[in-house]
Amino acid sequence: MKKIVFATNNSHKLKEIRAIANGKLEILSLSDIESYDEIEENGSTLEENALIKARFIKDKYGYDCFADDTGLEVEAIGNAPGVYSARYAGEHCSPQDNMEKLLREMTGKLNRKARFRTAIALLCNGEQHLFEGEINGRIIEEKRGSAGFGYDPVFQPDGYDQTFAEIGDEQKNKISHRALAMNKLADFLLSEDE
Ligand code: IMP
Repeated sequence: MKKIVFATNNSHKLKEIRAIANGKLEILSLSDIESYDEIEENGSTLEENALIKARFIKDKYGYDCFADDTGLEVEAIGNAPGVYSARYAGEHCSPQDNMEKLLREMTGKLNRKARFRTAIALLCNGEQHLFEGEINGRIIEEKRGSAGFGYDPVFQPDGYDQTFAEIGDEQKNKISHRALAMNKLADFLLSEDE
């Protein structure tokens, strides 16, 4: 079975990709390969950041590897916070701080269009591949719901009356930006493996 490293220690993301791979790939986390490195994500796009992480692991540990990066892009404020989504309100800020800053920036804005976008970089068999997933929606006026994480309470995907934090993980993981990108990655890896 093909063994591949996912450059993350986020248990939620590992669970999601392992479920998609359905036992057909062995997916190792950073702690599985005993990598405790602080990888600086200083790229200016999601794709660059994903590649930086994947390249670091490939070069240092030699494993075929993939890495992801996600951003929330809000049209009315120049597609911010984008690549800075994790540290929108400052270097060590909480998801609550980030959402509060976003709601402040969006006060009075009529255009509430937003999208989540995930980029995945894969380094495999000496080649580099990129996969992308996105979901369109809108930023609501006040937080709603308690499931999920990050900006979920303020993001309402198109076609739903609920926010990501109200929909719940099971449904979110079927339609989310990351699930779409992960599915493309899994399709590619599994077809290579045939
Ligand atoms: P990361 O690249 O997945 O670590 O995410 C970067 C930023 O986007 C962090 O602030 C996350 O909280 C946020 N984020 C990533 N994915 C999601 C999501 O599915 N829902 C809400 N926020 C997310």
